[in-house]
Amino acid sequence: MMDGETYEGGSVAHHIIDIIEKKKLGGSLSEAEVRDAVTGYTSEKIPDYQMSALLMAIFIKGMSYEETLSLTKTMAESGDSYSFPDSVDKHSTGGVGDKVSLTALPIAAACGAPVAKLSGRGLGITGGTIDKLEAIPGFSVDLSEERFKKQVETVGMAITEAGSLAPADKAIYALRDTTGTVDSLPLIGSSIVSKKAATGAGHLLYDVKRGSGAFMKTPEEARELADLLVRLSEDLGVRASAFITGMDAPLGRAIGNALEVRESVAFLKDEDTPGDLAHMARRVAVRLLELKGVSEPDEAVERAISSGAAYEKLEEFVAAQGGEADKLPDLEVSSETHEIKAPRSGFVSRFDALGLGRAALALGAGREKKGDPLDFGAGVEVFARVGDAVEAGQRVALLFGSRNIERAKKLAEESLEVSGEPTDAPPAILDSL
Ligand code: URA
Repeated sequence: MMDGETYEGGSVAHHIIDIIEKKKLGGSLSEAEVRDAVTGYTSEKIPDYQMSALLMAIFIKGMSYEETLSLTKTMAESGDSYSFPDSVDKHSTGGVGDKVSLTALPIAAACGAPVAKLSGRGLGITGGTIDKLEAIPGFSVDLSEERFKKQVETVGMAITEAGSLAPADKAIYALRDTTGTVDSLPLIGSSIVSKKAATGAGHLLYDVKRGSGAFMKTPEEARELADLLVRLSEDLGVRASAFITGMDAPLGRAIGNALEVRESVAFLKDEDTPGDLAHMARRVAVRLLELKGVSEPDEAVERAISSGAAYEKLEEFVAAQGGEADKLPDLEVSSETHEIKAPRSGFVSRFDALGLGRAALALGAGREKKGDPLDFGAGVEVFARVGDAVEAGQRVALLFGSRNIERAKKLAEESLEVSGEPTDAPPAILDSL
């Protein structure tokens, strides 16, 4: 550490200690103090142990809205920034079987709303759009800024990963991940919005998931995060809106990378698709068009699906990023399968997203630790939903893959609860703002 370097009030070392002390005692950091801490850390003048102490103080004492906005701006401005004022993007806080980006975005793009999207990889049990797309042979998210911009203009849809966008968030997120400071509202809000603001889409929809398979477990936490994401985005000049959606059960039937692409393709080809997925994909596409001010968005969305235009847009986008679009409907999935059967007759009262997500992860659809190779063809297909009547011995799920099969079976079996009384299926979208 370069102790001799000075800030206005003294050396870097003293300055960061003052900032930590102030936050530890519940004080409010000025915009300059937030910036000094972030830039000091990314330029390696502040070491991991001091940044960790500051993050833990923030975790325990919280941050005011003004501090959170300063942190968001500083991280957004820490690397490249793009500008796509006419484009749309959506962000999910992470769920199991969440293929809304793969379904709603080609629809929006086919309706004339260009998509400039930043996506991530899977985190824990929650899948990531990049992992799903990489199940398509040849597909790559490694786009230069120039190619990303050109593709948004010519194809109307491009997806990239953070790369040089908001590098401060990348560094701080990695530290949070290993210091027990991920689940802090101001840190999550600033992390998400800084990356989105740097990507530059002018219209954003947040899908804040709530339930067993999501980071936010209660309605209050989900609402608070949704409010924060929308407020931070609007203050950074982005038109934003949010849905709060249920994640006590997986979305749709498929969990796992190739399986989810196949289910998305079936939906876009107007083939039979589970009602919760079909509803969510339509509502998200409509809301994105509303944010853009497109008139009669419901009609536009229905036309894009029934005419095949949305599926053609998916093919065009996949091909533009090097993917073999002709393989989309029949992506290879694992030939090794295991059935899960209902233990008794009755009504499904729970088929838990957390347990099914863990089963898919164990089979190789996600990473148990950093750097684990994925099995793109692994995952779970779920054939029974909350509220459905089932007979003893009826197949309720199919596991795909050969890794950790006994553990995956146990996790899937324990996720299912069959009761004697019928239960209503919860709505897919719980709230919106
Ligand atoms: N996703 C992010 O991008 N950041 C967080 O802090 C949590 C989830």
